[in-house]
Amino acid sequence: MRKAAAFLLLFGLLLPGLSVSAQAYDADNYPFFPTLLNTRTGKPVKSSEFEDPERCKICHRDIYLQWNGSMHSNALVDPVFQALWRIGDQETDGAIRNLCSGCHTPIGTVSEEVTFDPDEGVFKAGKIASRGVQCDFCHTVLDTTWRDTPIAQPHNGTLLMDPGDVKRGPYRDSNSPGHDTAYSELHTTAEFCGSCHNVFHPVTNFPIERTYDEWRQSVYSRAGIVCQDCHMMPVEKAIEAARTLQRPRNPGKASPLGPDRDNVYTHEFVGGNFTVTALLGADRHAEIARERLQSAAEIRIHAPEEFVSGKVGRFDVEVINVAAGHNLPTSLTEVRQMWLDVTVRDGKGNVLFRSGALDEEGNIDPAADIFRAVAVDSDGNVTHKPWKISHFASVRTIPPKGSDTSDYAFLVPSRVKKGDLAIEAVLRYRSFSQELADKLLGEDALEVPVVDMTAAVTSVPVVRK
Ligand code: HEC
Ligand code: HEC
Ligand code: HEC
Ligand code: HEC
Ligand code: HEC
Repeated sequence: MRKAAAFLLLFGLLLPGLSVSAQAYDADNYPFFPTLLNTRTGKPVKSSEFEDPERCKICHRDIYLQWNGSMHSNALVDPVFQALWRIGDQETDGAIRNLCSGCHTPIGTVSEEVTFDPDEGVFKAGKIASRGVQCDFCHTVLDTTWRDTPIAQPHNGTLLMDPGDVKRGPYRDSNSPGHDTAYSELHTTAEFCGSCHNVFHPVTNFPIERTYDEWRQSVYSRAGIVCQDCHMMPVEKAIEAARTLQRPRNPGKASPLGPDRDNVYTHEFVGGNFTVTALLGADRHAEIARERLQSAAEIRIHAPEEFVSGKVGRFDVEVINVAAGHNLPTSLTEVRQMWLDVTVRDGKGNVLFRSGALDEEGNIDPAADIFRAVAVDSDGNVTHKPWKISHFASVRTIPPKGSDTSDYAFLVPSRVKKGDLAIEAVLRYRSFSQELADKLLGEDALEVPVVDMTAAVTSVPVVRK
């Protein structure tokens, strides 16, 4: 049976009642379906056709050290990814294996060398392919194929791979003793990144992760600021770019053997993942992720001039997405957690109101204002399994330069007759819930850390009336 047909049959069983729009994907065009990655010849390519990042390191040491430890370099070995992939692979009888591997180990996918090791319970690939999204994958990409897909959007790996001596990049005048070079406009665009940073359900095309789409509709896209300008730049320059809507510049050298350049992009590819980076020993990447998260948002508390003793006190907390080029949070919005922790205290420090506290098991107060998507399967049950997601029952994320306001109300105790009440609002973030970490990594394997992205305080006097 043709791969795509077999795949659709399986998903038809998993998601009954769906009109199968993906029939429009012609399996002949996508030999590694359900990933849309392809090679120039349409045939598998040995992983040995790609060069080891260790060779690139010889002449691009800084770039190598920036990339090594990034989530790109760890995209295959990431234990959180591995755990969810394993469940998906079992539940779909292998049907989604290539979907996940297409973006997390593109070389392992087109070389067809991904195998499951039942003893260790992990997916493996050869030495080169196991290094995830790496130098010689990105720099030998020839083209993007999204225009030819049924939905004409970058998604699910719409890239054409063409390994060989030609390394494609942003320079028109580059000369290298290590390889041939070619200018590639594609590498300077967000569509290059968007081919993997838009994850759609392969049968229904439901957009599960849509970072690229969010960016495309944003002021940044209109100002010509692309993913690279924030994620391939030192954090300070990214923050400046978000503030001024001017493209950043970072002078330097692409290689000690090359000329001075008025712009060199860095390769840390850091977003918000300060958890798995640290878990895998990439402390510098974890630190940058914290800085990035702490630059992304601002909080404003809108409170009245006074609260009245014995009466209801109301106030609002506004969260503004100041520096993320896409919604806050973005991508796995059904997994990432960003929420408001709001406290009101009297002059003695007694807590009069609290919303958004963590309990002893690490669960967020169910009444908290949480920014996320709640994903459900076709029976309406909440799910974190991308292959089962039918739709989002609710979505609350903050668009670029947009804001979101939460209202709070509490009773000002009549025993509080004067003095000031202090309102504190903290925006907190973690990569996933404690419950999900326990499920995927095992009980007690990881206490999921939280980062405080930003906070605001204000005080309001109490009067008697
Ligand atoms: C189109 C490309 C693409 C496909 C297909 C894809 N992923 Fe991912 N995946 C990503 C990107 C990009 C991220 C990073 C998003 C982020 O960090 O916010 C990611 C992150 C993840 C994470 C979070 C890891 C962490 O450390 O927090 C998990 C888990 C994951 N993917 C599982 C899967 C599974 C399982 C599949 C197959 C059903 C899959 N992915 C298919 C692109 C893809
Ligand atoms: C023997 C040294 C050497 C090795 C090994 C090497 N490079 Fe280069 N590379 C250079 C030099 C020098 C330049 C030119 C820099 C410039 O023009 O500013 C360059 C330029 C590049 C460019 C820019 C091309 C353009 O036109 O924009 C890319 C991309 C690149 N290298 C990728 C790689 C990758 C990927 C590897 C490993 C597979 C690698 N290089 C291995 C020396 C090397
Ligand atoms: C996720 C894809 C990706 C990976 C992985 C990646 N690069 Fe790049 N690289 C890019 C993009 C995109 C640019 C150009 C950005 C632009 O000009 O807009 C670039 C630029 C470059 C340049 C030109 C100088 C500069 O930094 O702007 C060199 C040289 C280079 N990369 C080498 C490497 C090496 C060596 C590795 C591995 C250690 C690597 N790249 C990994 C995407 C990648
Ligand atoms: C081959 C697919 C692919 C391409 C192309 C790609 N990425 Fe990624 N990217 C991934 C995957 C997969 C992950 C997540 C790995 C994980 O968490 O296990 C990721 C993670 C990231 C992260 C880290 C997110 C975090 O949570 O910290 C950033 C930032 C990022 N990518 C930016 C970019 C940019 C910018 C480009 C374009 C220059 C790009 N990516 C191109 C697949 C890709
Ligand atoms: C104006 C700067 C800016 C631009 C442009 C931008 N980002 Fe981000 N990005 C951020 C900041 C700040 C964060 C950290 C806050 C967060 O997690 O959303 C982030 C986070 C991320 C994350 C991690 C999200 C998470 O919580 O797991 C991914 C993945 C990502 N960006 C990918 C992209 C891609 C792909 C593009 C282009 C389509 C892009 N970004 C454009 C600033 C930017």
